[in-house]
Amino acid sequence: MAKIIAVTNQKGGVGKTTTTINLAAGLAMADMRVLVVDTDAQANCSSGLGVVKGSVELSLYDSLIRSVPLATILRDTELDNLKLVPADRNLSGAVVEMLELPEREFLLKRLLEPVVGNFDFVLIDSPPSLSILTLNGLVAADSVLIPIQCEYFALEGLTDLFDTLARVRRAFNPLLSIQGILLTMFDERTNLSAQVREDLKSHFADKVLETVIPRNVRLAEAPSFGKPVLIYDIRSKGAESYLRLAKEILSYEKEGIG
Ligand SMILES: Nc1ncnc2c1ncn2[C@@H]1O[C@H](COP(=O)(O)OP(=O)(O)OP(=O)(O)O)[C@@H](O)[C@H]1O
Ligand SMILES: [Mg+2]
Repeated sequence: MAKIIAVTNQKGGVGKTTTTINLAAGLAMADMRVLVVDTDAQANCSSGLGVVKGSVELSLYDSLIRSVPLATILRDTELDNLKLVPADRNLSGAVVEMLELPEREFLLKRLLEPVVGNFDFVLIDSPPSLSILTLNGLVAADSVLIPIQCEYFALEGLTDLFDTLARVRRAFNPLLSIQGILLTMFDERTNLSAQVREDLKSHFADKVLETVIPRNVRLAEAPSFGKPVLIYDIRSKGAESYLRLAKEILSYEKEGIG
């Protein structure tokens, strides 16, 4: 049975999509069968995995609103054992349409049930909000991976996120755990990055992952070629760091933690 990880932070631009794409690629390269689910109407995760904008005939929208099975929608990527459920702009309308559906928080969970057996990991990329789509990801997930950008206001908004997680556990998904807090866009030359790391460690101790993702231009370039950085430039620092992250996550899974 797959481990389902939601990559979530309602703050925009912190590295959720970059992390989803490249952690998924890292796990796939370690021979794991991986499914990525793009729940963001911006569809950056889909285009970063090679989907040409405007070319999507069926997306997660059709599954959520019209009950089209995920098996019909998922597509291949450049990596054999990495599959994608694409998003498209229609998803922004889904936020309103879903409010009328029964058990609307559980739609993604139910959609995943028939396919999870075919995968070792499912990674869910979330939009920058605490909308019903984000909630669906958290309800479907076993754990949540929280990317945090190393910047001055890094910790702002974390209280809201942890409140949301507590609410999700109470109302919908009691077993939802924290996979880890991941520092992204880390710049070892600045005191600020080091300071953010110290602050997070003092607040969240062992929830902060060992692996830190450096600021690396290759990570920012790769999506415009529709490729994970691990294919675009395997020798870059960005690629190296996401391979390390994949190893770290795999080691926790083998120990049965996480
Ligand atoms: N480690 C990194 N080094 C350099 N650039 C990065 C890094 N991580 C992400 N970026 C760039 O920063 C921007 C935001 O990253 P990303 O899209 O992954 O964040 P996000 O949290 O998914 O954003 P949104 O909230 O809009 O969905 C992108 O242009 C991305 O290419
Ligand atoms: Mg994103």
